[in-house]
Amino acid sequence: MKQFLTILLIAFIAFSCKKTADKVIKKRKIGLVTKNAMVVSARIEASKIGSDILKQGGNAFDAMVATELALAVAYPYAGNIGGGGFMVYRKNDGSIGALDYREKASKKATKDMYLDSLGNVIPNLSTRGAMAVGVPGTIAGIFACHERFGSLPINTIFDPVIALAKKGVIVTKKQKERLLEKRNDFLEVNKDTILLAKEWKESDTIKYNNLAETLTRIKNNGKDEFYNGETAIRLAKFIQDNGGIITTDDLAAYEAKWRTPVIFKYDNLKIISMSPPSSGGIALAQILKSIESFNLESYGHNSIKAIQVITEAERRAYADRSFYLGDPDFVTVPQNKLISDKYLKDRMSNFSFDKATPSAEVSHGSVQIIESNETTHYSIVDQFGNAIAVTTTLNSGYGSKLYSNDLGFFLNNEMDDFSSKPGIPNVYGLIGAEANKIVPEKRMLSSMTPTIVEKDNKLYMSVGTPGGSAIITSVLQTILNVHKFKMSMQDAVNAPRFHHQWLPDVIMMEPNLFPRKTINALQKKGYTINEEDLPVIGKVDGILILPDGSLEGGADYRGDDSASGF
Ligand code: DON
Repeated sequence: MKQFLTILLIAFIAFSCKKTADKVIKKRKIGLVTKNAMVVSARIEASKIGSDILKQGGNAFDAMVATELALAVAYPYAGNIGGGGFMVYRKNDGSIGALDYREKASKKATKDMYLDSLGNVIPNLSTRGAMAVGVPGTIAGIFACHERFGSLPINTIFDPVIALAKKGVIVTKKQKERLLEKRNDFLEVNKDTILLAKEWKESDTIKYNNLAETLTRIKNNGKDEFYNGETAIRLAKFIQDNGGIITTDDLAAYEAKWRTPVIFKYDNLKIISMSPPSSGGIALAQILKSIESFNLESYGHNSIKAIQVITEAERRAYADRSFYLGDPDFVTVPQNKLISDKYLKDRMSNFSFDKATPSAEVSHGSVQIIESNETTHYSIVDQFGNAIAVTTTLNSGYGSKLYSNDLGFFLNNEMDDFSSKPGIPNVYGLIGAEANKIVPEKRMLSSMTPTIVEKDNKLYMSVGTPGGSAIITSVLQTILNVHKFKMSMQDAVNAPRFHHQWLPDVIMMEPNLFPRKTINALQKKGYTINEEDLPVIGKVDGILILPDGSLEGGADYRGDDSASGF
């Protein structure tokens, strides 16, 4: 009898697991399809405002400004004017480029600013409160984008965003949970209580009146308002009153920078992704080029062999990321070498399907990266055929948690993306090398990977995601899902994801989405699987150009993400 019950229980568990996997497969579908233009972002309000700007005749760059600002209002978890980001673009004439509006270190920053007198990393100093803040780049980024490529007047773009901030934004279930989770942090970090520390419930409306005032001043006075004007004075004073080091001089010196993106071929695709100070493009190139000669289609999506080969390429790329990459204005990044065919072939030469390569045997073992908390990505394709991919962040969810009630926004904790002490893990497990050490005015290394893909010389996809170190691997899998496994954009976004980042030497998998059989087989080959510590691997948003020229949006069900277009 006991034996019978055990068999019954095993059968039940096996059935439930299969049901979970089946549920995911059933969930797969086609995303929103539109004929002309589309915005996909973390909140419907932002996608809608961006899409309305396009409908009024604006282009993707006008919509970038509108969507970025609307996310700062509707998605304060990661949308921001107190943080920074990266944009990759492809215009309808085929010209491509990238904009870096990453935060940077204050002129007063020092290599050892997060260390105590004994040389140990001081807990929380680079992650919470005013010392964690990098000089924000978002306002410089939107104005640089608008100045070079925008077509509508700045007032036309700002007005709906300011109206949204005044009217207020409805709290979603996921947002309510996030606010509750971070409430104590808000109260601990800030001297006074803050707007978002109120016990907000689902369906409440939060009005952002002070943010509306700040945005109105920026609308009227331009970029200088934030970097040289009244807002700059109030912001620097606020940061210093809270123990930070950013000065008006730091704000005045901030500039967004146009960069040459990382461009490489993979099969019949041309991939255009973010260059340093993000590691995204180089790592994506390394992984894709390392797996190019393997026949992924014949192995099958998320099959043991596909997971193995991708994992081994990821392991090697992340080891390099850790050692070689940093702000190119301060260190020499050997980009061409790192993505050259010969180098990558050598890197993969000791790979075998028989067993895992231990990370300890992969060189440049000096950087450990763990998942950090929040960022947000949006993709836009306009009715003229221009495309952009933008990833923007405060680093952790609600950044440093330091919020200016007066100005109405959170400040980032991007300083934690530097290595606080080269070679030694900081409180979040990050170990950095010399290339990413803190230097005054330097930009901290990022994983953000806004990416545009061409197929047969035509625009094919715009894609990106938040997810800390898992950004690169989530973008990678989404591209492979569409290109190799012939999924729709929405299916590609929904599909279960896994991630390996060299150290810790584990494959992180979305919990309960991979068959037990696959996990067991990988374990037998020496892989350690972790389904617990990385419950969400990215929240991917993307747009795919369908063969008839229409657009399919993929908005990640893992968040409140949403597509809007016409
Ligand atoms: O720039 C970076 O790589 C990080 N600051 C991004 C953080 C992030 O994506 C958190 N999101 N889940």
